[in-house]
Amino acid sequence: MLRFKEEVASVLAPLIDWEKEEVFSRLEIPPDSEFGDYSFPCFPLARELRQAPARIAAELSNKLQGKGRFLKKVEGKGPYLNFYVDEQTLAERIVAEILNEKGDFGRSSAGSSEVVVIDYSAPNIAKPFGIGHLRSTVIGDALYRIYSALGYRCIGINHLGDWGTQFGKLIVAYKHWGEGKGLQDDPVRYLYELYVLFHREAEDKPELEEEARFWFKKLEDGDAEALTLWQRFRELSLAEFKRVYEYLGVNFDYYYGESFYNDRLDATLEMVQQKNIARESEGALVVDLEQFGLPPCLLRKKDGATLYATRDLAAAIYRYEEYRFSQMLYVVGAEQKLHFQQLFSILKLMGYPWAKKCKHIPFGLIRFPGGRMSTRQGKTIFLEDVVNRAVELAEKIIAEKNPDLENRKEVAKIVGVGAIKFGDLSNDRIKDIDFDWEKILDFSGETAPYIQYSHARIFSILRKSGGVLASAELRIITEEERSLVKTLGFYAESIERAAEAYKPSILARYLINLAKDFNRFYHNCSVLGAEESLRQSRLLLCAATKQVLANGLDLLGIGAPEEM
Ligand code: ARG
Repeated sequence: MLRFKEEVASVLAPLIDWEKEEVFSRLEIPPDSEFGDYSFPCFPLARELRQAPARIAAELSNKLQGKGRFLKKVEGKGPYLNFYVDEQTLAERIVAEILNEKGDFGRSSAGSSEVVVIDYSAPNIAKPFGIGHLRSTVIGDALYRIYSALGYRCIGINHLGDWGTQFGKLIVAYKHWGEGKGLQDDPVRYLYELYVLFHREAEDKPELEEEARFWFKKLEDGDAEALTLWQRFRELSLAEFKRVYEYLGVNFDYYYGESFYNDRLDATLEMVQQKNIARESEGALVVDLEQFGLPPCLLRKKDGATLYATRDLAAAIYRYEEYRFSQMLYVVGAEQKLHFQQLFSILKLMGYPWAKKCKHIPFGLIRFPGGRMSTRQGKTIFLEDVVNRAVELAEKIIAEKNPDLENRKEVAKIVGVGAIKFGDLSNDRIKDIDFDWEKILDFSGETAPYIQYSHARIFSILRKSGGVLASAELRIITEEERSLVKTLGFYAESIERAAEAYKPSILARYLINLAKDFNRFYHNCSVLGAEESLRQSRLLLCAATKQVLANGLDLLGIGAPEEM
């Protein structure tokens, strides 16, 4: 459809004496395809030409009759000029392209290898890899895939929470109540239990907090005992995180956690002082951000301890020096909005022009039945449990629907993991999500299993057909076929729009629409039973749809089994 859009821009531009790019950027997708596939609002011309927009639209539509290869029809409707694509021409182009390019269909080199750093997942050691980190993991991974498909060079960084005052608490708890076996057997849960225990005990014994601060200070000063414990906690937890990532099919280029920047903190703080943007009070170092309408940001405590913000400041500078990114995306919950505003403002005050290339990509909460989770009180839901449950449920459904399926376990994993990811990605990321098991696994709802099921259904049609003739002639005759072809044509655009808005949900919604269009087509147009030339044409549509469903799911990090 982008080619059609370009064509529309090229035929219209000379008639109104505008640049083609300007026309292109003004073309809108109407809310209902009844009003065309693209439409051009004539209001801005009215001022130029001193004529009513409706009259301009009518005149232009006359002049445009018969122009363009893809253009079936153009109509002036009120102040709008509506353009309709010729589905037959589009089908001939798009289906051939899809079947030639296969897995590469939809990819482009538009990003010209510009570097995009993506900071995502970033769970905290000692606090659980809870469901809250799921959103960052899944959205970040999808953005990584989408931007890579558009020809950007992505660098995925897991900014693990592997430093900070919680390690003081953890060391204290471990020294008082811990033992090696529990830690070894199930480190993530065990450390979390210690963390919860610490907070429970500290309610009556506030001196524990003091002790924890003392131990974190020791850790920051390089005390051998503290470091050894920290390292053990970190290694064991990281090994488990990596296992979960592998199961989810999520990758990172670097596991540079907060501790990675420890040896750059002094230099960073010195730089802040040299640039005269901070004030010291009793040893603490603070940056005032009043001019940005923000509260002050603490970069060093009185006792010399550094903070989350200090480490993020050092990390941002390191990353720019190292990667010269054109964008850096922090995929982190909306509750950290202030933190990132402060961080980016400090970078601005420090005079870094690249500060404006840093973006916070916020998202809402996941609400589980039973209320919001608090890591401190121990009411948490472990990501791994959620994923396991999804896979179990998927397996049950598959066992009912397709009892003879051979690799049921493997398929259940792809479907279960897909359901969880899609349940997240199909929602606008800013919105809070109410997690609902039945909803995300509904094979006929707006879910990954629905899309995967459509994909598998096409596989079975193609298998039964005995083969698709790539050279067959396309015959687009029904409304369902026309609509399917157009949706296929919008794939590339949906990827671009998802990237632009940093919203994988745009691609996810697109895939739901494509699967729906396909099912409507399949329901109303006979494929295998049609007369031969129509049968061949429809098989081509099936094959193209299957490819696009698989490609799109892949960009969301979701697999597409051939049977399920
Ligand atoms: N570990 C942090 C948390 O769980 C998220 C880190 C996000 N990335 C960053 N560079 N601050 O809240």
